This record gives sequence, structure tokens and C-alpha cells, in this order.
Amino acid sequence: MPKTLIEPFRIKSVEPLHMTTRADRQTLLAQAKLNVFLLRAQDVLIDWLTDSGTGAMSARQWGAIMTGDESYAGARSFYQLQAVVQGITGMPHFVPTHQGRAAEKVLFGAVCQRGQIVPNNNHFDTTRANLEYLGVDARDLVIPEGLQPALAHPFKGNIDLARVEALLKTEGERIPFGMLTVTNNTGGGQPVSMENIRAYAALLKRHGKPLVMDVCRFAENSMFIKMREPGYADRSVRSIAEEMFSHADACTMSAKKDGMVNMGGFIALRDDRWVEPVRNGLIMAEGFPTYGGLAGRDLEALAVGLEEGLDEDYLRYRLRTAEYLGEQLEAAGIGFVKPAGGHAVYLDARTVLPDMPVEHYPAWALCNALYLEGGIRGVEVGSVMFGKRLDDGRETYHPMELVRLAFPRRVYTQSHFDYAAEVIAEVKAKARDIRGVRIVKQPRFLRHFTAEFDWAT
Ligand code: F0G
Repeated sequence: MPKTLIEPFRIKSVEPLHMTTRADRQTLLAQAKLNVFLLRAQDVLIDWLTDSGTGAMSARQWGAIMTGDESYAGARSFYQLQAVVQGITGMPHFVPTHQGRAAEKVLFGAVCQRGQIVPNNNHFDTTRANLEYLGVDARDLVIPEGLQPALAHPFKGNIDLARVEALLKTEGERIPFGMLTVTNNTGGGQPVSMENIRAYAALLKRHGKPLVMDVCRFAENSMFIKMREPGYADRSVRSIAEEMFSHADACTMSAKKDGMVNMGGFIALRDDRWVEPVRNGLIMAEGFPTYGGLAGRDLEALAVGLEEGLDEDYLRYRLRTAEYLGEQLEAAGIGFVKPAGGHAVYLDARTVLPDMPVEHYPAWALCNALYLEGGIRGVEVGSVMFGKRLDDGRETYHPMELVRLAFPRRVYTQSHFDYAAEVIAEVKAKARDIRGVRIVKQPRFLRHFTAEFDWAT
């Protein structure tokens, strides 16, 4: 067998990249106030800002789009997608939303109350924000291994069952349900094992609590289980996904990830008790229950995308791609969250810039350096994203300085990854020249999106 794992698709439609020189990028980054979020996408060569909604659809999906039924109520496209979602999740109630955070807002709005606590391995930002907005305490209880970037562990996304149990014993009456995010994006795109899902669901059940899963990357998680968990190697990924869902009572999905579409999401519910408040909330925020913020053509593309996202040749290539970049980083002596995640690789900026003081935001500086060196756009996950300026003017910092490189699905080829590995190694070789930054203007919340910077002196 040749050892090169090829992209399991041919390219039928292409989008040219706009080449820039280093001098161009210096001007463009200065115009963007040293914040890559403020660049125009056309000035980015390799856009690894997110894997969300940035994938390429297949010819089959584009074909399905033409068959979309745009009826306001009862569209055929709705029933078709509902059957696909019911088939995979085993849950009878399907509620479409325009994306993942809308699913969160509608579900939490229907079932949560002020003063409650929701445990999770790690809440994604929007999940946390939607809970906190309702006065709910979003508690992150990932296993301790999940917090150590350099430590390799097959299921770093697992939730710490002992801490969940302690919380259920002391604060049980305040917990409306338990959550679990697969894969654990905030923790590095790390999977959760079936053993952990099963035990967590059973623990919640003993305390009379439902399990709500955040399943944006359920297919990648299922493939990791097949590859890493004893007893699953010969099972189909689809049957593993079905088993995962069988432990959940409800789920929220951003279909912009493993749904293989540019926009979409849903809620699925196993029993009837939340259906009515959820549908009522949906009508107010998103639309009639048979379209929920999406066009009929979007529902069609998602029905195909959910099936394609479970294709094993695709998933094997997908996970191998991240691992392949990880191997090249390892060879170049660049630290990253190990093992490589499903949808992303998280660089540890401290291994490139060990001497840069945290006040100069090393992960932000690395992000800028990747753009200047090779036109690569990643996301800082460090003290700009998670630190804060306090009212007395002091700053708080984040314990980790990471840069997330998240990979759009079916978009970049192996040569793009080889190029990126070269650029990252080159950045490390020139680390002495990398300049830190200082914040000159920032909003009060979610400052990384719009803050403006200057070079630190
Ligand atoms: N849950 C997880 C685990 C996510 O990663 C995201 C989005 C959401 C929920 C929200 O879904 O964007 O459709 O509203 N993550 C993207 C990212 C934005 O870049 O990681 P959404």
C-alpha cells in the first residue's frame, strides 16, 4: 500500500487564491490594526480561522440545492432532512435552526432558569454565553489531562466523572441537565470516548438528569472512537455515531461543521417534554418549525451533507491531515496540543516565543507572524481572547498562549499543508524578529474580534 493518504475527491470547481507578497501583507496587517480578524478574506492565502461554514460542498449537495422546496410550511425538504436526522440520532423530534448558537439559545431559553448549573467537558464560547445570559453557571469539568497541552492521551475530551458526581451530590437540585461537547473544541478538538459517554449518561440518569450533547463534530468524534477505542475498530462510523446518540436525550448541532454545509443547525429531542417550549421559542426567534431560519435548499444540502460527513474514507483523510501537520510540527520542534485534534491543530506559542512576556501577547504575536510570513490566518486562543482589562486598568492573562489552525472541510490539499508547515518552521527560525503587541483600543466583551493593536516597545 502506498503510504500517501490522498484526498478522497476530485476537484470540479475552484476558487483562485489571491497571492500577496510580504510587503503587501505588512501594509494590509497594519491597515487591519494588527488584528487578523479585520483583514479582508481575499488578502489571506490559507484561511484557517475556522472550520465552521467554510467547507466545500459536493456536486451532490449543489445538485440537491436545486431541488429545495421553499414552501413556508410543511416543505418536502424538511421531511427529507428530518428522516436523515432521525436515522442518525434515533431521536424523533427534529427542530431546524439557522446555526448552532441559535439551537443553544432556543433550547436553553425553553428549559433553563436563573441560578442553575450546567456541567460540560468544556462549554464552547457561545454555549457558555447563552447559558450565562440566562443566569446559569456553565461549569467546565474536563479531565485533568485535557488541560495539559504537551500530554498525549487518546480521549482528552473526556469529562471528569468524579467531579460531576460530587457536583450532582452537592448541587443536584440546581442542575437541569448535563452537557457534553463532541469533540471538545475548547480543549483542542479532542474526542470523548464511548466509555466516558456511557458512564456519564448513566451517572446523570441515576440522578434523574437528561444528557444534552453538543454534537457539531460528532462524525469526527465517532471516527476517533473507531481508531482509538478498544472494541470499535470493526464497527462502521455510522453505527458508532448511532450508539453515541443513543446515550443522549437531546442534542444541539451546528451543521456548519460535520453537517458539511455553509449554514445550518438543529436541535433533536428524544422525548416529548421539551418539544412544545422549544417549538414556541423557535417560532419567535428563527421561524416556522419546518424551516427554522433556513431556506428549503439549505435543508436539502444538509440532508446530503450529514451522510457525506460520515463517509469513512473522508474521515480517515480528514483526521490524518491534522495528524500529518502535527508530525511536521514535531519534527520542527514546535509545541502543539497533543495529539492533533480532529478539526484543528493548536500551536503552543510559548514554544516559539519562550522569552516574550505575556504582556506582549505571544500567541497574538505568533498569529500575526504567520500571516506576515506566509499569508496564513489562525486564531489566537490566549490572553487577548480570554484575558480582560479590569476597571482599575489592570490586565488579567490566560494560562495558555495558543494559536488555533482550524481546517475547512475538503478545501485545502496536502501541498497547502506542506506549505503551512514550512511557513511555521520559518517563523520559528526567525522568532527573534517577532514583535509583541499592545492593545490600543478594545471593546468590553469578546475583545479579540475587534480590538486594535500597535507593536509593543
Ligand atoms: N458548539 C461548538 C463546540 C462549536 O465549536 C461552535 C462553533 C458552536 C457550538 C456554535 O455554532 O457557530 O454554528 O453558531 N464553533 C465555531 C468555531 C465558530 O470556530 O469553533 P455556530
